[in-house]
Amino acid sequence: MSTVPHILVDKLSCPLVDTASPFDPYSVRQDFPVLQQFVRGRPLIYLDNAATTQKPRAVIGAIEAYYTSENANIHRGVHYLSQVATDSYEGARGKIRQFLNASLDQEIVFTRGTTESVNLVAQSYGRKHVGEGDEIIITEMEHHSNIVPWQILCEDKDAKLRYIPINDRGELLIEEFEGLITARTRLVSLVHISNALGSVNPVKEIVKIAHDHGVPVLVDGAQAVPHMKVDVQALGCDFYAFSGHKMFGPTGIGVLYGKSQLLEAMPPYEGGGSMIRTVSLDRSTYADTPTKFEAGTPNIAGGIGLGVAIDYLNRIGLDSAAEYEAELMDYASEALDKVPGLRLVGSAENRVSVLSFVMEAAHPHDIGTILDQEGIAVRAGHHCAQPVMQHFNIPATTRAATAFYNTREEIDALARALHKVNKVFS
Ligand code: ALA
Repeated sequence: MSTVPHILVDKLSCPLVDTASPFDPYSVRQDFPVLQQFVRGRPLIYLDNAATTQKPRAVIGAIEAYYTSENANIHRGVHYLSQVATDSYEGARGKIRQFLNASLDQEIVFTRGTTESVNLVAQSYGRKHVGEGDEIIITEMEHHSNIVPWQILCEDKDAKLRYIPINDRGELLIEEFEGLITARTRLVSLVHISNALGSVNPVKEIVKIAHDHGVPVLVDGAQAVPHMKVDVQALGCDFYAFSGHKMFGPTGIGVLYGKSQLLEAMPPYEGGGSMIRTVSLDRSTYADTPTKFEAGTPNIAGGIGLGVAIDYLNRIGLDSAAEYEAELMDYASEALDKVPGLRLVGSAENRVSVLSFVMEAAHPHDIGTILDQEGIAVRAGHHCAQPVMQHFNIPATTRAATAFYNTREEIDALARALHKVNKVFS
């Protein structure tokens, strides 16, 4: 792996094709230093964005600036640096509130990521409200992080987990959803955009149906926030979880949005410093939301970096980026359709960013290895969504997942490499 001057790679990924969208991916990609390099002798083509996205200079710089001139523990210091760091961290919470259009900063809980956010709801809301014989509804297209926490809870409480099925296009069978709701249903938890299929679920409709039955809804938005504007009040959901690193922010930081009346009534998730009001040898009392859920010293630099990632998305315009990505998705679907023996897995009407596929000629891991030789990064495997693979009766797929900094030329290079896979294995 070698880094090369930006200008060299600019020439290799130059704007050969105009798109209808005013969004300019060629200029935006200059903000991402990691994209300006050669891998295995070729310009890096990064198509593993569903696993993690790259970070713009602004985010990298903010983290460096924090450690260079602001580093101090927050919420507990009377000294200058602690106050500056606290202001930056709490400022990021405010940016996240605005980004999601939540009503209150108190509705934004910092976590380590989507996985911790879901576990927090399962262990706090779930342990309080789910009992023997109760039911939780999820879907067949969940990431393991929205399956296993519920299985652990259901095993512990002797409760039942039920699944909204999917069709062979990778769409939820909404008509079956209402029939799954019973008087024992305590929560619905579903993914907004599938990491394995790219399907965009009709969250608003699901929330409406669930609420008509008095059931709250948690949404796993890990793959949604980098690709579309999310408005938690318009969706009406009760909880919304996402990770910083999948939306151009740092790893190790994420968010749980929760309606304030729900969060306030929930017991703490982890005990420790910060989350308390008083501690004596007999008992402790707890801080208000969200502090009650943020035990210990948090990922301060991560929170600040996530705030800067949001500034960045606001600056480039998530709506026009989404429009461009939709065009790129159509372009990529057409290009892959022309590769003999390639079958896309997941063809939902409403689909974003993810092209999951299998090929007659080769196993996904072999395809991934050949693509890697061409400098193309994709993910091969079950994508932490084994039930999705089981539905399609396949062990794995190769997954190319785009972001707004990918270009048509990169898709052309992917298609050429896939034709090469056919040649290698013929
Ligand atoms: N959940 C991540 C993915 O889909 C890691 O690849």
